[in-house]
Amino acid sequence: MNQDDLLLADTNDVLSTLRDLFYLPPNTVYLDGNSLGPLLKRVESRLQKTIREEWGQDLIASWNSHNWIDLPVKVAEKIAPLVGAAKGQVICADSVSVNLFKLLVTALQLNPKRTRVLSVEETFPTDLYMAQGLQKLLGEARCTLSRVKEASLIEEINDETNLIMISHVNFRSGYVNDLKVITETAHRHGAMVLVDLSHSAGVIPIELDALGVDFAVGCGYKFLNGGPGAPAFLYVNQRHQNKVEQPLSGWMGHRSPFDFSADYIPRPGIAQYQSGTPGIIGLSALDEAMTLWADIDIQDVRRKSSALTSLFIDKVQNAAELSDLEIVSPLDVETRGSQVSLSHPDGYEIVQAMIASGVICDYREPEVLRFGIAPLYNSFEDIIRAVDLMKDIVKNKRYRDPAFGDRNDVT
Ligand SMILES: Cc1ncc(COP(=O)(O)O)c(C=O)c1O
Repeated sequence: MNQDDLLLADTNDVLSTLRDLFYLPPNTVYLDGNSLGPLLKRVESRLQKTIREEWGQDLIASWNSHNWIDLPVKVAEKIAPLVGAAKGQVICADSVSVNLFKLLVTALQLNPKRTRVLSVEETFPTDLYMAQGLQKLLGEARCTLSRVKEASLIEEINDETNLIMISHVNFRSGYVNDLKVITETAHRHGAMVLVDLSHSAGVIPIELDALGVDFAVGCGYKFLNGGPGAPAFLYVNQRHQNKVEQPLSGWMGHRSPFDFSADYIPRPGIAQYQSGTPGIIGLSALDEAMTLWADIDIQDVRRKSSALTSLFIDKVQNAAELSDLEIVSPLDVETRGSQVSLSHPDGYEIVQAMIASGVICDYREPEVLRFGIAPLYNSFEDIIRAVDLMKDIVKNKRYRDPAFGDRNDVT
């Protein structure tokens, strides 16, 4: 892409006006929206209102007068169209990890004769950790985690499998798992599917209902831009609701919490999957961030994401300076999520050198440099700047500066 093509691509970009809705530091290319989405200006105003007027002035009355109590459902209903879910199947609550626990137990209770939870080694560790913890808690007679290679997942699904737990997009490589094939194969074997949508919600069209997916979870703080530690969401397909009780039976999932009855009776439907008091500040931020989606077509987002990741890969492949970096993400755009991952033994240091020069990306063990592409605010020019900077850093070995070797707690 030459300079004219680049300008044309950015001019023709139907999403280009959205960039101004975000706070992005000057002279910075932000390629980490798959870790933490940036602050939307409207979210800042909303939080000021929530803090000053609702909490500051109206105090506890806000649970009713500002409908705080309805926020977990209200926000969930804004997320539902993005994941292809009809009403009444999504709730906003807790973190992805905690929601995984609720859904793993739900699946095991729905079909207690089957104890095998099948997942892949390459998946995000918290998913595996939650299943490992459950296996320890319940014992292997009631829960056994099988970890296989992502590439052999389909052939490992068998008639003993209760649940397949898989990320839609692999957090490290950006590989898009085929939810249609996985769900069809699982169902043919009488197994269920739990999908982690953390790296696809907001960048890839998702059709949970149409595919018949059983359960899903996802992050609010990545491509949904809900802010650091934003509440997560979870999806339970209608056909699995009201059959078993979720295990974290807190009062917010009770049928009538303000009866203060000593016995737990679950609320009907998805609302049962709440546990304790929702964090209103975080939910308000996510609620406001989700208003953006009223005017956005996710197909446009995916198209732009594909064009940006393809441009990134093309530039890397054509740069002699970068020949030592291996492209970890799929070359086939259809199976590539909204990120480009590369690998290099000095990946951590290269990432630190990039950040020091204004291109923010991140590093994941082992040796992976990750560039998250967010079509709502990233431009074609951002991609060119990022790859040009990387060429300079690698060619001139700028990453060898000892300052870049110090490991931060968060990489
Ligand atoms: C795929 C995936 N699942 C889960 C998580 C963690 O979710 P939480 O911190 O909300 O438990 C992450 C965090 O980056 C993730 O990438």
